Amino acid sequence: MKRRQLLAALTAASLGRLAVASTAAPRLEAYPFQLGVASGSPTDSSVVLWTRALPLNPLNNPWATQTLELRWELATDPGFTQLLRQGSVQALPMLAHSVHVEPQGLPADTVLYYRFMLGDAVSPAGRTRTLPAPDQPKDRLHLAFASCQRLGAGHFGAYTRLLEEDVDLIAFVGDYIYESGAYPSAALPQGLLPASDLYGYRLHYETHKREPTLQAAHAAVPWLLTWDDHEVMNDYAGGPLRGLTSRDARRRAAAYQAYYEHMPLPLASLQRGLLGLTEQGEELRLYGHRAWGRLASLHLLDCRQYRSPHACRGLASLIDPDDCKALRSPEHSLLGAAQARWLHDSLGQQARTWNLILQTTMVAPRRIPFGGGHRIWADGWDGYPQDRERLLEALRAQQIGGAVFLGGDLHENWANDLQTAEGQPVATEFVGAGITMKSFFPSRTPGILAANPLSRYASGNDCGYALLELTPQQLRCDFRVVDSVATNEPGIRTAASFVVSPQSPRLLGA
Ligand SMILES: [Fe+2]
Repeated sequence: MKRRQLLAALTAASLGRLAVASTAAPRLEAYPFQLGVASGSPTDSSVVLWTRALPLNPLNNPWATQTLELRWELATDPGFTQLLRQGSVQALPMLAHSVHVEPQGLPADTVLYYRFMLGDAVSPAGRTRTLPAPDQPKDRLHLAFASCQRLGAGHFGAYTRLLEEDVDLIAFVGDYIYESGAYPSAALPQGLLPASDLYGYRLHYETHKREPTLQAAHAAVPWLLTWDDHEVMNDYAGGPLRGLTSRDARRRAAAYQAYYEHMPLPLASLQRGLLGLTEQGEELRLYGHRAWGRLASLHLLDCRQYRSPHACRGLASLIDPDDCKALRSPEHSLLGAAQARWLHDSLGQQARTWNLILQTTMVAPRRIPFGGGHRIWADGWDGYPQDRERLLEALRAQQIGGAVFLGGDLHENWANDLQTAEGQPVATEFVGAGITMKSFFPSRTPGILAANPLSRYASGNDCGYALLELTPQQLRCDFRVVDSVATNEPGIRTAASFVVSPQSPRLLGA
């Protein structure tokens, strides 16, 4: 099949418009929806509906070469009596029988319910919603953001508590899996081998998505997703893939494919269709913009795929910034030129009361005391100071009010003010703790906090998620932390809260 035909077929399949193919009824050895359902990447007229048909044993798959036909329903009620759309979609073996349905023309700002069918099997029902129209007045957005969920490090009980918060959206800002695997533990008795090929990455997602807490979080709320390094490999720097000629490029392509297969991503994220994904290892476009009515813009960034290789890598990525000229090169970029251009334009064109920038790690400077001086961590924004300064300067020059960065990666909660190089305040920032991952050096966190005057709060002792409530008057962030990762029913408390006014880019105590 030529690339264009394949893309057309995939488009039709995802829209549920494909004529029913001559697929024999599959032999179901077990319930095929063991990975649950998910929805994501909503717009004001569409949302991606996801599931994957999983055989009893993926290594002995009776449908290994068979295209399956799944049916799907989208309704306005949880009992599915008021169907808004229904259709069928082909689940292709080359995508591990995952499906990404994108019904179009849906009503804005509407809660919807969806499910899939295969043979006699019916999936769990998912609940999702479309976004408000971009010009619609809204007086509230309730958003949670999460990161760093290593199953071997504990249970995903934080999601049990998160679902009680009744949020509109969940944003995930990286490290959905950890490719290095896990030794057997209480949360993951069978352990998990490191992933380095397509089978391995798929196994990681299968293992994570079997967790009932994670399934419930996906089934309840649409997600906006971006990735960090561990969806591929530790601290990797993306750059163009340029085909599959090297072992690392093949590995990265396998990781990208498994990510697409398991996330509710739109077809538009495949820049060159299926062949780009499966045979050429091309770009997977994650960055983009969403609007929550007139209240908030959400700019979702990809901080991995396009970044320059690290400058002056030192021991454990700690480098002396005064001893690394390459840091100052204008070409040394974390976002890559095209994404940075898009972001600068989008910030100006899509300015709203609140302008959230969802990205992966901490933007504020994080000087780490070391000997008599300090070091920085080359894998974070500190390792790409020119890009950071251009971005903060763009916020100042375009007079973007209500700019708030959200990130993860550190496995610690941080709240920061952000300034340009000249010291003009331009934004605030919240970095959320991991769902299960704990800080590597929590005893050093107070010392690092003290060495960085723009940082107002840091705690390296917690796991959990961050909860944002946005209104036209203020943004409030609560760092919600669990009392244990050893259970799916942890206690929860608020470790710290901050508010921000859209008129002033400074953190205020709540
Ligand atoms: Fe992480």
